[in-house]
Amino acid sequence: MLLTRRNFAIGCGAFAASSALICAQRGIGNSASLSTPLPIPRLIDAAKQGNAVNLKVMSGRHVFIHGRPTRTYGYSAPILGPVIRMCRGDEIEMTVENALDTVTTVHWHGLLVPGDSDGGPQQLIHSGDRWRPVLKIDQPAATLWFHPHPHHDTARQIYMGLAGMIILDDGTDARRGLPRTFGTDDLPLILQDRSFASDGSIEYGTDGLAIVYGARGDTVIVNGAIAPVAKVPPGLVRLRLLNAANAQNFELRFSDRRTFHIIASDGGFLPVPVAATKLTISPAERFEVLVDFANGKPVSLESGPNEEMGIFGRLAPDGSADYVPVMRFETTTTKPLVTEMPTRLVELSAASQVSAVRRRQFIVNSGVCMNRTQAGGHPDMVALTGINGQTFDMERIDVETNLGTSEVWEVVSAGMAHPFHIHGALFRILSIAGAPPPPHLAGWKDVVLVEDNVELLVAFNRPATRDHPFMYHCHILEHEEAGLMGQYVCI
Ligand code: C2O
Ligand code: CU
Repeated sequence: MLLTRRNFAIGCGAFAASSALICAQRGIGNSASLSTPLPIPRLIDAAKQGNAVNLKVMSGRHVFIHGRPTRTYGYSAPILGPVIRMCRGDEIEMTVENALDTVTTVHWHGLLVPGDSDGGPQQLIHSGDRWRPVLKIDQPAATLWFHPHPHHDTARQIYMGLAGMIILDDGTDARRGLPRTFGTDDLPLILQDRSFASDGSIEYGTDGLAIVYGARGDTVIVNGAIAPVAKVPPGLVRLRLLNAANAQNFELRFSDRRTFHIIASDGGFLPVPVAATKLTISPAERFEVLVDFANGKPVSLESGPNEEMGIFGRLAPDGSADYVPVMRFETTTTKPLVTEMPTRLVELSAASQVSAVRRRQFIVNSGVCMNRTQAGGHPDMVALTGINGQTFDMERIDVETNLGTSEVWEVVSAGMAHPFHIHGALFRILSIAGAPPPPHLAGWKDVVLVEDNVELLVAFNRPATRDHPFMYHCHILEHEEAGLMGQYVCI
């Protein structure tokens, strides 16, 4: 029996309400300060250093809450990592050194590279070792990211701070008239949520609730800071939004409800800027938006009740039923660099399934309510049932695809909404619950939030063998760890 999302939400209502209470009780909330300056990660412009980039995976200490430093992980930094700019056409020699006392991998999320440099769970970098993949950059401009992928430790390592952004530059920003001055009018915004213990440390726990719903914190952090403030020029500013949370969707809007324009999704630019006042961003998704600060007024970015997740029944990250501030923007008096909204961005052909050579179905099932009922409501007895009834097995190849072909993948969520991600390929959304996607979801993507069912047209053009297959999985990291993941080869 398949539970629809609606059924599921009703069935789990009581459960959701009690977890909300837990959140609310321990929330320190984001109304806290709104005074920390927005940290801007260091920019590594690969081309400016001979296309050789070193990353050191390390542990460190980071202060989220004043006076209470906590142990964290980062890439060549105490937390998060540099933003790496990579240029189309270049070959980047990466050196990743693992200075942690545990095994890790580095996956280049959204980067189209062969399976043997993708950094999936097979490509372990043991403590003290180095990994040196050469990344051939050949895809349109986009905002990507990198993060660990060792099976059974991905969720914890990302929660501890391992995540970094990649700006893939194809040299067309200037021609398109887009804001492009890093740290000034082109800002990386890495959105996450955390819960803090009273000593300021970040709790990562996988109790029953966290396994079922994913680890959710009660406090939103941006680039590792709670409720920071960004100073921006009084013109158009480009925000590169990345949801690097383990499980949380962010429902974004501005406090004055201003209209902003979405210009890019995971895989690159949309044909034209799409006007919006709200934007849902699910784990691992990226959107680039242009915001006009010409009126000089301060404004907050807020995250609100989560309408996508029946389970958490319309709650903001801090457990409240209203929007909470994520960060604040204040304008400077400097002259803005860009003031005019571009009209056209890229040509995008219509996505048609005529070209597809095959059709497959993937039922993503976290089995929660069904099992919960059977188990007499005991969350510890919940079984996660995997994709098409199978939990992840590193020894099993689930799907074989062919290089240069396209397939239609229908993804069905049984129960709660799952952000579904495919490695090594980009896709276009053909339909969402039977209807065409809204304009901001109609471009190239690599993650899609599946509430009921979606049809994707997936283009396979990077090779992956049995030794280094590509993954597809739910990007709620606790679901991925629990086995909502499969592997495919592309030959
Ligand atoms: Cu963000 Cu398997 O990836
Ligand atoms: Cu999931």
